[in-house]
Amino acid sequence: MKIEAKSSELLRTLLEKKDFLFEAASLHQGPVHLLLPEQLSRNVEEVKSLLEEFDCINHIFFAHKSTKSLALLKEARFAGINLDVASLGELTNGLRAGFTGTQIECTGPKSSEYLEAALLHGCAISVDSLSELQKIVRFTKRLPIKQASILLRIGDLSPTHKVLKKRDSLFGLPRTALPEAYAMLKENPHITFKGVHFHNDVRDAETQAGTLLCAIDILVEAIQQGFEPTIINIGGGLRTAQFANKQQVRAFIQHLEEGVSKQEPLETWRNYSYGIYLNQRGTISGRKGLSGKIEVPEYTSFLRALLTTQGRDGRPLLEFMAENMIDLALEPGFLLSQQCGLTLLRVESVNQGAEGRLIVKVAGNMYNLSSQMVEQLTDPILISKTKEKSPCSALIAGNLCREEDMLSKRFIPFEQRPKQGDLICFLNTAAYAGGFEDGTPILQPEGKRFVVTFKDGKPTLLSEELYSPWEERDDL
Ligand SMILES: Cc1ncc(COP(=O)(O)O)c(C=O)c1O
Repeated sequence: MKIEAKSSELLRTLLEKKDFLFEAASLHQGPVHLLLPEQLSRNVEEVKSLLEEFDCINHIFFAHKSTKSLALLKEARFAGINLDVASLGELTNGLRAGFTGTQIECTGPKSSEYLEAALLHGCAISVDSLSELQKIVRFTKRLPIKQASILLRIGDLSPTHKVLKKRDSLFGLPRTALPEAYAMLKENPHITFKGVHFHNDVRDAETQAGTLLCAIDILVEAIQQGFEPTIINIGGGLRTAQFANKQQVRAFIQHLEEGVSKQEPLETWRNYSYGIYLNQRGTISGRKGLSGKIEVPEYTSFLRALLTTQGRDGRPLLEFMAENMIDLALEPGFLLSQQCGLTLLRVESVNQGAEGRLIVKVAGNMYNLSSQMVEQLTDPILISKTKEKSPCSALIAGNLCREEDMLSKRFIPFEQRPKQGDLICFLNTAAYAGGFEDGTPILQPEGKRFVVTFKDGKPTLLSEELYSPWEERDDL
């Protein structure tokens, strides 16, 4: 069953350049990740134009954690947005991409080294715990700095009207810790309390609006305490569809449901059912979990619904924020990296498994594509130097010599039977997928990243280090 991936104009242009793709794939023994940084600027433009609808000051921070790519970071700086980092390595990379400390916000758990670097560079720090705040107080006394800027990340902002939806978080202070945090901040006025931060993976605007309302309450409470916070940072988690055709996804879910309920073979490896199962009552369970993962609301409608939800005074939350000069900050990672890359894997062999099943073995593995983190649900594309009509469906397996090493658990329909030397191309691998978990199990090579730029429709391959969006655009 087909599940085609959505592809941007830039990705489609790249896919047409078959010789170029073969040349790129020949530059490395392992997987080759091709990045299209220009797409990130296009994504930023889209988000900015949506935010223009809202009459409220906003700040966009690109969440570095979605990618290791230096080129995408430089592009984010070129696009005029800020950076959210979650480790010392990411902070260093951000500085290397040219961001100044004041354009960077430091989130996540922090080692002393990371915290010191953040303070020395004047980054805003999203405080994760009371002990972290204590450390900041101590460090500011011994480091050669006069001031520090912080946001308080709150881990248990629960939607006020939905008690059952409350979820524990590993990150952030509990609300009960706020009085102690306020006391520490009052004793240390050189630490500026800039705002409230949260991040969750809630995709339902109504639930998220309850969380935002809760954050607004805390901001108001802090103002009553004599502080002057002005920012609410709602984190990342914004999504857009990765599928070209919703009907194909629905048909696949239906196939799983019917197969599971009739106990018939599925078009998947070892009858993998993506969490769909027959419950004790003999009916199907798990659909919500699967469709919740793949049929996510578009960030455009999500943000509109979130910000126009009625607040305590019956007016839209956004109106309250604008009127009270509360800025909105966002930290999209996944969303901004969408369509910014693809991964090329050489076909090493095509084997016949049990019951005539075709298994395509590629020069790469589940870690190169971070399949543990983001399961590839869309069809990879076959790129071949030859052209013939030999339709088939096949599984894609990796090079780890482990039964678990599948790059797709679905049988992928191909119009032409893959053969050794062809390329298997996974689209849209810039966010969390290509390289996120990359490693060298059984000493197989890691993937390698290259940048692709276009001039007069002709692609050029560049190292990430040499890529400069300013120079690229200058020539145009
Ligand atoms: C604090 C924080 N901000 C932003 C993000 C980015 O989320 P996404 O890539 O889903 O937009 C994450 C992801 O884990 C996060 O932890």
